[in-house]
Amino acid sequence: FHRSVSQRANRSVAELLQWRPAEKAEDVTVNGFVRSVRSMKAHQFVALGDGSSLAPLQALVRADRAEDLTVGAAVRLTGSWVSSPGASQSHELHVSKVEVLGPSDAKTFPIQKKYQTPEYLRTMPHLRPRTPVNAVLLRLRSEAIASLTQFFAGRSFTQTHPPIITSSDCEGAGEVFTVTPANDTPAPADKDGSEGSFFRSKKYLTVSTQLHLEALAQAVGNVWTLSPVFRAEKSDTSRHLSEFYMLEAEMSFVDGLSPVMDLTEDMLRSLSTNLIESATVRDLLFRSRTSGSDLAPAEEVRRRWEGLMRQDWPRITYSDAVALLQQKADLFEHKPTWGAGLQSEHEKYLAEYVGGGEKPVFVTNYPRDIKAFYMRETQAPASGVPGPTVDCFDLLVPEFCEIAGGSMREHRLDPLLDVMKRQGIFKPPSEGAPNESSSGGLDWYVDLRRWGCPPHGGFGVGFDRLLSYLAGVQTVRDIVSFPRWHGRCDC
Ligand code: 4AD
Ligand code: MG
Repeated sequence: FHRSVSQRANRSVAELLQWRPAEKAEDVTVNGFVRSVRSMKAHQFVALGDGSSLAPLQALVRADRAEDLTVGAAVRLTGSWVSSPGASQSHELHVSKVEVLGPSDAKTFPIQKKYQTPEYLRTMPHLRPRTPVNAVLLRLRSEAIASLTQFFAGRSFTQTHPPIITSSDCEGAGEVFTVTPANDTPAPADKDGSEGSFFRSKKYLTVSTQLHLEALAQAVGNVWTLSPVFRAEKSDTSRHLSEFYMLEAEMSFVDGLSPVMDLTEDMLRSLSTNLIESATVRDLLFRSRTSGSDLAPAEEVRRRWEGLMRQDWPRITYSDAVALLQQKADLFEHKPTWGAGLQSEHEKYLAEYVGGGEKPVFVTNYPRDIKAFYMRETQAPASGVPGPTVDCFDLLVPEFCEIAGGSMREHRLDPLLDVMKRQGIFKPPSEGAPNESSSGGLDWYVDLRRWGCPPHGGFGVGFDRLLSYLAGVQTVRDIVSFPRWHGRCDC
């Protein structure tokens, strides 16, 4: 290990901090950014970071060589790596050569070592990743994707790339952005009567890749994707973004919701088991308040990781959940009523009391009429359930609430058309809507039910919500490098 490290031209700060040779090592070179400079008499102590570790590398530079080592500068330092008894790190770099590769005006550099509020840092998304904690969050994202990719490969799921520009609103919630070219000069209408715009009719940014994943699952079996999705929601909350990543999986030839929930559970358990001992999670647990973000306390963050590692997450039906909430009705601002969506105060209560504040909780079988058109109706609802329900679930985690949702899909043609008619998505041609507008751009989706559509189901995890939860970040606006939400899209 020593040989291989010392022979490489440049080593990351993280690698160097792990390297504890018994003898002094000469000609060690490291690239990075000056985080802080502390002047002693003849020397300066320079803290150098490169995003690879929360802790900086300590470098000792002779005062006459340190002139251009200003906070924020991109530098290459060469020197000897020597043990430094008594210092906070076991070794330090005694610098013999300083190269400033990108100077910085320290007086105007906005990222400071002292505590800076998340709100302030959010005003400069192009520089925010230079704060140590934001670098940890970037590494967490990268490692989580690697771990999930491995999980799905291990289960023989095919990773796919469904489209971003679509012809329909998957969730039917009317929260789609439309796509038009900047210089859209309408062409003459086509012979078939469609509008003369770029794609000949209205197109949208996808709100979920699910419908296309269903088509792919019908060809190659189980599939998954991690895709950007877009929602024109005006919600000003810590959980909503206009652009976020959704991890979606679709399973073919499954007969009920249980295997879909099992997969969700196994996937998240595997993620936390893989990463909990990683250097990145260690950094998350040992960061200080000055490192650039307001994270939840370390014990709380550890509890979240361990919660995902637990077996047998509770599963409760919506109807039972509502009955439970009604017994505690005076705790809530909104009265829990069967047939209405769960408010976040209700979800919080369920996560706390059904999951013991530790395990995530699946709430299943919501009322049909508050859910998306594609969900399969429950065939044999339990007695006493007041109305039709669908085979679906929301996954709630303590404090944060919904991080995932999934369902069985209606795979039979006629029942699907019935729901689409009821919800006003499908209008028979006699009602005058020509071509694709007659089914909200979903003709192709209906078509899938005509030729070999097996029972299938899947889920979508709000990837940014999941990462915020696991990092202890208070709002999804701080887990995404360049966040977009209602009223904000700055660079
Ligand atoms: O619950 P949703 O809307 O489910 C779907 O879109 C399904 N088609 C998924 C599927 O079955 N394949 O969204 C899934 C998850 C939510 O549970 C939530 O975590 C996250 O996406 N989410 C958001 N995350 C950030 N900002 C928003 N505006 C979000 N809206 C949903
Ligand atoms: Mg949902």
